[in-house]
Amino acid sequence: MSSRISLTRYLVEQQREHGHIPAQLRLLIEVVARACKSIAISVNKGALGEVLGSAASENVQGEIQKKLDIISNEVLIEANEWGGHLAAMASEEMDSIHVVPNRYPQGEYLLLFDPLDGSSNIDVNVSIGTIFSVLRKVNNQRGISEEDFLQPGKQQAAAGYCVYGPQTTLVLTVGEGVAMFTLDRETGSWVLTEDQVQIPEDTKEFAINMSNMRHWDAPVKRYIDECLSGKEGPRGKDFNMRWVASMVADVHRILTRGGVFLYPWDKRDPDKPGKLRLMYEANPMAFLVEQAGGLATNGRQRIMDVVPGKLHERVAVVLGSKNEVQRVTDYHLASPT
Ligand code: AHG
Ligand code: MN
Ligand code: MN
Repeated sequence: MSSRISLTRYLVEQQREHGHIPAQLRLLIEVVARACKSIAISVNKGALGEVLGSAASENVQGEIQKKLDIISNEVLIEANEWGGHLAAMASEEMDSIHVVPNRYPQGEYLLLFDPLDGSSNIDVNVSIGTIFSVLRKVNNQRGISEEDFLQPGKQQAAAGYCVYGPQTTLVLTVGEGVAMFTLDRETGSWVLTEDQVQIPEDTKEFAINMSNMRHWDAPVKRYIDECLSGKEGPRGKDFNMRWVASMVADVHRILTRGGVFLYPWDKRDPDKPGKLRLMYEANPMAFLVEQAGGLATNGRQRIMDVVPGKLHERVAVVLGSKNEVQRVTDYHLASPT
């Protein structure tokens, strides 16, 4: 049997080959991976661990927090604040940034996360996950503020997610392709199980919440109508549909076998650019998808080129197999704003 490559060995070898994983970034990734392991343990306990159900609080976006949203947020903060690799963190579950306390050394990186993605799936035992994005602290002149985080996604140093499903899988990019690691529960180590993941350019599978159809804009409606008309329609082939309602699980499927994922702008709340958050949901997923040969746009523009105006900014998302994302984007560009 060929020897198993651990996450640590993968990172050390990436550093040797490409020389772009400084020690602080390596530590950061290992610490996030360890935190995910600890979140996985809580997820697996389920009803036995008193981790199910809602907490009596709301987050900054006005969403009722689940117990596991709060637990996962705390696990990530506690794991990351003392190592000296970070200057500050930001999370879906915190109104403002969390600066590393003075008693710890300040590092060069900024970490953003969605501690628990797919909250509506926790209690029903469906796959959920953690999404993270790593930026560099570019301003060395002063202390740290929210403004330091407002960088476009193309400046990410690393990104990834962990999916807590039938298997616990960590998916990572440091800008040299996408690697997947499966948690070996017996040894507690992350084992490399896929390297240089590639998303097929074409697909027959789309993911969208169809219940919002009546609120969609014309280009989205056109695209989905054409998929639904199957072999007899303009696409000349039958399409399949999947919607897990955990972005991690939908993106994981797309990285594994292709597909296109859409969470478009819609008329329910026209002032919101979309539902998903740019900095800790869309950007890290866009980085992974592009690194795997796919595309990620907001319908008109590459997601990683969007310059955020605020930490909790939302964005429309179309990502996955290259030719489908290009088609959806072309339909948008051909239609007036
Ligand atoms: P979160 O649980 O972090 O708030 O994210 C949920 C997101 C995303 O994971 C998923 O794709 C989407 O919400 C599902 O939304 P709908 O319930 O509107 O389908
Ligand atoms: Mn989420
Ligand atoms: Mn979340």
